[in-house]
Amino acid sequence: MSEPKKLFVKTYGCQMNVYDSERMVSALGGQGYVETDTPEGADMILLNTCHIREKAAEKIYSELGRYKPFKAANPDLKIGVAGCVAQAEGEEIIRRQPMVDLVVGPQAYHRLPEMESKIGQVKAQVDTEFPAEDKFDHLPRGPKARRAPSAFLTVQEGCDKFCAFCVVPYTRGAEVSRSVEQILAEAHDLVERGVVEINLLGQNVNAYHGTHDGREWGLAQLIRELAKIDELKRIRFTTSHPNDMDDDLIAAHGDCDKLMPYLHLPVQAGSDKVLKAMNRKHTAAEYLALIERIRAARPDIALSGDFIVGFPGETEEDFQATLDLCREVRYGQAYSFKYSPRPGTPAADRTHVDEAEKNDRLARLQALLSQHQAEFQNSMVGKTLPVLLEKPGRNPGQMIGKSEFLHAVHMDASPDQVGKIVQAKVLWSERNSLAAELI
Ligand code: SAH
Ligand code: SF4
Ligand code: F3S
Repeated sequence: MSEPKKLFVKTYGCQMNVYDSERMVSALGGQGYVETDTPEGADMILLNTCHIREKAAEKIYSELGRYKPFKAANPDLKIGVAGCVAQAEGEEIIRRQPMVDLVVGPQAYHRLPEMESKIGQVKAQVDTEFPAEDKFDHLPRGPKARRAPSAFLTVQEGCDKFCAFCVVPYTRGAEVSRSVEQILAEAHDLVERGVVEINLLGQNVNAYHGTHDGREWGLAQLIRELAKIDELKRIRFTTSHPNDMDDDLIAAHGDCDKLMPYLHLPVQAGSDKVLKAMNRKHTAAEYLALIERIRAARPDIALSGDFIVGFPGETEEDFQATLDLCREVRYGQAYSFKYSPRPGTPAADRTHVDEAEKNDRLARLQALLSQHQAEFQNSMVGKTLPVLLEKPGRNPGQMIGKSEFLHAVHMDASPDQVGKIVQAKVLWSERNSLAAELI
């Protein structure tokens, strides 16, 4: 039997890339590859890239530069670039880095095995098409190996929203939903491999629309159907757009026990002027009213968000409106970024906020968000929470899991409890985790 070939995949960016990398590893399994965790000695290196903020492409070129000696030492080494930089840069990658053998955009991954088999026979290949067929249809399934207890499952891809700052509609294409049947089949497959928590993914996951038995299904129906799978204990979804939070999905947060009380609902900014300039298509008041309805359905829900500071035209007063909105919502956790101009997006050509001002606003926003996060974590101390144990922790005898509110929780527990939901009493709160003891 021939030795398996080694595949090193480096993943950047969002959870959808993490999911895609898993699928690419399994697709290339059919070509005789097994995954390895270092580039040294690999037979193929694949970079799955992200283009969301500035300098993404430059980072990839310098990463590729690091692999030059590897290629010199092993001329048979195959190098591929996938993901959103691949989509945005295309041929340019081969022009600047001729040692790259293939460039494949996020909608063309089903062609990856064929592209891999042609390396060496044809010159460098580039596929950045948006084909009508479903990229997942063609990805072969791996053997029924055990999996970690929590898994991602992409249900929707692409975005039609065109926020003025964002590259995603260009790199991932238009909104497309996978079929209900495909998703259910994949969920059953995951559960058979030991998965107890599924995180449904999409760039606009709550814009999901499928059909089942001739009826239209939104994300809420999909969640309710998945909840019928006995061995599946927890369901999450990310990322949502406020304008796609329909009544049924809000209701599901109240009546579906398996749907976890955590919602990532980015608003980006608190000033109506900035929201309009961003093309978010809602006001701050509408967002806050939505949060109120969600909290009416599930009062203890933990909210999370994304923020951009220093968007073109943002004044100190606008920025204060963002701080006010945060004080009103009190996010359990949130991500914040300095605005980064992306060539080809509408906001890129506008007048930019001074860099020092952006840094200052980011620091002030992050201080407030950290304070709210700490308060939320501290409110857990002394409580007993159900925790899904996921993997060994840093110290011997320690295990790490997730609370329903997505806190990382560590405690002394046995490794054979991986995949179990245990009751744990929270002892104290750390910066980004909770310390607990098994009950
Ligand atoms: N589809 C999701 C998020 C996609 S990108 C949504 O609509 O919320 C993830 C986050 O990156 C965004 O929410 C935004 O906060 C940030 N982001 C996107 N483009 C950016 C840019 N040009 N500069 C800074 N942050 C950006
Ligand atoms: Fe980007 Fe806006 Fe689409 Fe989110 S909704 S992916 S921020 S364009
Ligand atoms: Fe990045 Fe593409 Fe995801 S740009 S955030 S990898 S959709």
